[in-house]
Amino acid sequence: MTDKLIAAALAVRQNAHAPFSGFKVGSAVEDESGRVFTGCNVENATYGLTVCAERVAIFKAISEGARKFTRVVVAADTDVLTPPCGACRQILWEFCGDVELVMTNLQGKSEKLRLAELFPRAFDASFFR
Ligand code: THU
Repeated sequence: MTDKLIAAALAVRQNAHAPFSGFKVGSAVEDESGRVFTGCNVENATYGLTVCAERVAIFKAISEGARKFTRVVVAADTDVLTPPCGACRQILWEFCGDVELVMTNLQGKSEKLRLAELFPRAFDASFFR
């Protein structure tokens, strides 16, 4: 059975705007009610204004009112499965906490872990609230 969140991340990856790196990434997040939000990387000629797939997906979800997330998928065309970059780990932690994270590729290889394994001792609002 194909996992619908993985399928969504692979599908949206094809919309990536990645003319500079040629590296297409797709991401999909699911909220507690089963709603799915997707994102791809969107590059910019300045390079620095590029936004990763994970942040597009989570910001779309937040802006649509979603708040509690159960799963995040990252899809890229690499043999060694692509993890979220450091900036995305921080943003995912902000909105998803220690969420289940699936990394996958075009060959159907995937690995499941939790965000805290990739992002231990995260800084968040618990330090000042
Ligand atoms: N990228 C993502 O979208 N997500 C990641 O987890 C890693 C990197 C994008 C940013 C840029 O468009 C391209 O991949 C190369 O860094």
